[in-house]
Amino acid sequence: MVMMEMKQSFFTYSLLLVVLFHFTVTTSAQSPAGAPAPSSVPTDIITILQKARGFTTLIRLLKTTQVSNQIDAQLLNSNNGLTFFAPTDNAFSSLKPGLLNSLNDQQKNELIQFHMLSSFTALTNFDTLSNPVRTQAGENPSRLALNVTTSGNQVNITTGVVNTTVSGTVYSDKQLAVYQVDKVLLPLDFFLAKPPAPAPAPANPKAHKKKLADGPAAPSDNSGAMSLTKWHAIGVAVLVAVLASISL
Ligand SMILES: *[C@@H]1O[C@H](CO)[C@@H](O)[C@H](O)[C@H]1NC(C)=O
Ligand SMILES: *[C@@H]1O[C@H](CO)[C@@H](O)[C@H](O)[C@H]1NC(C)=O
Ligand SMILES: *[C@@H]1O[C@H](CO)[C@@H](O)[C@H](O)[C@H]1NC(C)=O
Repeated sequence: MVMMEMKQSFFTYSLLLVVLFHFTVTTSAQSPAGAPAPSSVPTDIITILQKARGFTTLIRLLKTTQVSNQIDAQLLNSNNGLTFFAPTDNAFSSLKPGLLNSLNDQQKNELIQFHMLSSFTALTNFDTLSNPVRTQAGENPSRLALNVTTSGNQVNITTGVVNTTVSGTVYSDKQLAVYQVDKVLLPLDFFLAKPPAPAPAPANPKAHKKKLADGPAAPSDNSGAMSLTKWHAIGVAVLVAVLASISL
């Protein structure tokens, strides 16, 4: 009888420990992800471009399209990092007059996404990419091709409309690389006739945007959940071992 009661209280006690342990692991694992944007200041794209100077048009575009927020979120949620080709103010002012203003919101978004690769690429690693390089604007080789040719540290880019060379590294850590380009990378998409679209037009951009926003975040969510489960499993295993040694 006493033995039974003791076992019961051990059980209650262990249950309490499991709950407490779970709570600790969960809250400590969640706090970095739930932290507000300021914690990402070192890799905040706007701050980086402001410090570098000469990117005011790009900064304005990043803000109006809200892609800057998307970049912050991607850097926080993805382990792949990001590569960004940053056209200078001169690059924008040498565009055909009125071209930028003629773009609608969706096209402006596409233009910025076309300047982004959803993984970190060091300057010396561009030769490992295969053409056409997939940008965050999507995968359509005939309209959204971005081809790269390299020779030593020289990286040439062609879109079918624009040829340019990476002219400098604005910023680089292990996660984010920002490279200066002296031309705006215009996709062929802006210059080709619109393809016949049998699907209702508004549905596509929405799904496209959602995919872009959700896509890169998914892997790290998984890995976060995996490590949480792992720690939880370790905690439970330790408790079971302790309990087993007590009841022996
Ligand atoms: C890059 O472009 C420059 C200028 O057009 C050219 O001289 C050079 O050969 C190109 N390099 C590569 C690796 O394509
Ligand atoms: C990009 O490279 C692919 C594969 O080499 C080629 O088929 C395509 O024509 C190229 N496109 C441009 C715009 O250079
Ligand atoms: C880009 O370079 C290719 C060859 O490297 C050339 O055929 C093409 O005309 C150039 N395009 C522009 C827009 O300068």
